[in-house]
Amino acid sequence: MSNLKNDTEKITNRKKRIAPSILSADFSQLGKEVESVISAGADWIHVDVMDGHFVNNLTLGAPVIKSLRKSTSAFLDVHLMIEQPEKYLQDFIAAGSDLITIHVESTNKVMECLSQIRSAGKKAGITLRPRTAIESILPFLDWVDLVLVMTVEPGFGGQAFMHEQISKISYLRKKIDQQFPQILIEVDGGINDKTIGFCDEVDVIVAGSYIFSHDSYSEAINNLKR
Ligand code: DX5
Ligand code: ZN
Repeated sequence: MSNLKNDTEKITNRKKRIAPSILSADFSQLGKEVESVISAGADWIHVDVMDGHFVNNLTLGAPVIKSLRKSTSAFLDVHLMIEQPEKYLQDFIAAGSDLITIHVESTNKVMECLSQIRSAGKKAGITLRPRTAIESILPFLDWVDLVLVMTVEPGFGGQAFMHEQISKISYLRKKIDQQFPQILIEVDGGINDKTIGFCDEVDVIVAGSYIFSHDSYSEAINNLKR
């Protein structure tokens, strides 16, 4: 198993990373599933946290991340789809998350959240729903390490890629290259061996159902890295 914990230090290195979303993993064997995708070439582990309010689905919370942290040194990329993340950030930080991404629509304390995450020595990310204008996140670019572009409505795995979101990626790529070269761009939702072709300008690729529906995780991951 590759040791990816230090990825926090080399996060600025430009290379395509694959982050399997454990939402589509077999939860009865979560530790094993994580180990398998990492041995198969995954770079990060994407953890989708949903509260049944911000999105219409419930998944997992900090205790699961705490358990995962004990069993893997992989870089844990935590995507919070919860209202008022400020109430729970300390739990997700203490649980051992490496990067915590919050939704710009989920709180009126975005800046405070980002600075709390960074003050704890973690990486901070920001994201937005497909229908939210990209301009909404621009005021926060000085405070983030990653911007996540959602290419499905957050809430469920296995949805179709929203092609109209690609313009956000191109817009961000230019802006980030010109003004914030340290920020990574991540894409999440509907990624497979076809839609990956629209993600050349992306640094981190999240894929759930595509990877976990394959018998061979390495074949799936290689198809995305190619
Ligand atoms: C959706 C989640 C995604 C999801 C991706 O709310 O943020 O991470 O698991 O799943 P796929 O790759 O199946 O679209
Ligand atoms: Zn996600």
